[in-house]
Amino acid sequence: MNQHQTADITQAVLDRLSEDADPRFKQIITAVVKHAHALAREVDLKPDEWMAAIQFLTKVGQTCDAKRQEFILLSDTLGISMLVVQLEQARRSAQALADQAAPVKPTEATVQGPFYWEGAPVLPLGSDIGEGMPGEPAYYSGRVTDTHGRPIAGCVLDVWSGDGEGVYDMQMGDEAGMRLRGRFHTDADGRYHFWSIKPYYYPVPSDGPVGAMLRAMGRHPNRPGHIHMMVYRDGFVPLTTHLFAADSPYLDSDAVFGVRDSLVIPYTQHAGGKAPDGRTMDKTFHTASYDFALAST
Ligand code: BEZ
Ligand code: FE
Repeated sequence: MNQHQTADITQAVLDRLSEDADPRFKQIITAVVKHAHALAREVDLKPDEWMAAIQFLTKVGQTCDAKRQEFILLSDTLGISMLVVQLEQARRSAQALADQAAPVKPTEATVQGPFYWEGAPVLPLGSDIGEGMPGEPAYYSGRVTDTHGRPIAGCVLDVWSGDGEGVYDMQMGDEAGMRLRGRFHTDADGRYHFWSIKPYYYPVPSDGPVGAMLRAMGRHPNRPGHIHMMVYRDGFVPLTTHLFAADSPYLDSDAVFGVRDSLVIPYTQHAGGKAPDGRTMDKTFHTASYDFALAST
């Protein structure tokens, strides 16, 4: 029988990889084995510590259900989700650089997070997805263009956010159904507008194993106030991003490292009166505008 010394066990595992394995899988699993073994050596990992890690990952899996994805949360809070987003963005920017004539930079992407719910209602422009929900009303408007500034008509904005207290519909219990979500299509000029609420900062779910990890790290669980959107149309690279409120706390210490300066926008406060769409508001409301740019595929 072959006895592997601690020095050669890494190579022994790698030697078992079949020549016929998918090349990309081979590249990734090789790196997983090398880095995991290097980690164990670097910290001189003890058996009880490895067992604690296995129990932690088991709990992460057991905490997942149809509406809660603790593994995504783990990836988000360790900065892995945002790193993967940035690698993808860099890859695409390199492609976009090839198109030197493009004067508009594609809008930056950020993490999707665990609260996306496919199939939000398709609504006419101007609809209010925040009606009846806690929070101050906000009117959102802007345009979607390509990287040459040409309007993208019929582009989908799939929008979602928590309420004005930072709570998502998925956290409200089964009877709540979809709230603060909608899909809008840009008009012929690439314009969009809709009503929702001004988003408020909130903690990522912290009652599970990831919350325990954050506490052990001495970290807070908060995200600055933001509204999510996926922006997509055939022929363009789909975008998953947020807009962040410039006056929100935690912009400098987002629990999931998702803030990009280009996505931080002012919300202008109005003490009631006529809104940009002609609606008369009898209470405080906000206006926020942002133009999105999509790269061509
Ligand atoms: C969110 O913004 O919805 C979110 C993102 C990452 C982790 C938790 C929540
Ligand atoms: Fe969010």
